[in-house]
Amino acid sequence: MLEHLLQVAEETAVAAGTLAHEKYRHPLEISNKGFRDVVTDADFATQAHVTDRIRARFPTHGFLTEEDDSALANEGNIIWIIDPIDGTVNYSRGVPVFCVSLAAVRCENGSLGEALAGAIYDPLRDELFSAARGMGMRVNGRVTHASPVGDLQSCLLSFDWSHSREQRARAVDAQNRLAREAYGLRCFGSAALALAWVAAGRCDAYLNYHLLPWDLAAGALLIEEAGGRFTQIDGSPAPWRREGIAALGSNGRVHDALLVQVNAAP
Ligand code: IPD
Ligand code: CA
Ligand code: CA
Repeated sequence: MLEHLLQVAEETAVAAGTLAHEKYRHPLEISNKGFRDVVTDADFATQAHVTDRIRARFPTHGFLTEEDDSALANEGNIIWIIDPIDGTVNYSRGVPVFCVSLAAVRCENGSLGEALAGAIYDPLRDELFSAARGMGMRVNGRVTHASPVGDLQSCLLSFDWSHSREQRARAVDAQNRLAREAYGLRCFGSAALALAWVAAGRCDAYLNYHLLPWDLAAGALLIEEAGGRFTQIDGSPAPWRREGIAALGSNGRVHDALLVQVNAAP
């Protein structure tokens, strides 16, 4: 079952990412759906492509998708959590950092449980990051691990801005300390891809004060399967929360030292 979920996750992420790539840098219909939050026609088309493919293979599974679609089932013993284009602002402006992210998550009595399989596809670099629970993490089929970096001075940390002013102020406080202690800070504008890059050992950690289920579902599994850690910023396990969580993903080795800096008094 795990292998089958992984195979469908991988094939679907690549197919959907290819579609998003075809539409990239072509005229887009862009609309505002919230404060500092845009969506394009390509997000909807890519999401429909993902859900059509998964429904054809697993008719009893449900969905939790970033873009609303009342035609989708939201119940089942497996729920697919989908971000059709993560990095929509980059995508809509021609900044070449975005991806498709999807994960199959166990669901019992209506409650989401552990992620079983996930895939993140970066169509511009033709890179597929994928994992199934207990089976390790792969980049284009090759088993890959999080980085061995173990000290803050060597830590390359990525982060992203959340939408709200209050969360941005908290992020600035933390970055003020982290910029002094860490090797460097990066901001890529795609949470899912940044998490995949931590899993692949390219960065050592990723911090975001507002990650939604579709931003983190695949990336958190990838990081854990690559030997890293993914928690809330108080160090507790990351729950599924529709309103979002503040979270840190890392190679595991720098996790505690980063939590100390994140939670230090301003
Ligand atoms: C956004 C990106 C961004 C992060 C935002 C997310 P979207 O997702 O992941 O990096 O900072 O919080 O909402 O809207 O491009 O799918
Ligand atoms: Ca999105
Ligand atoms: Ca997203």
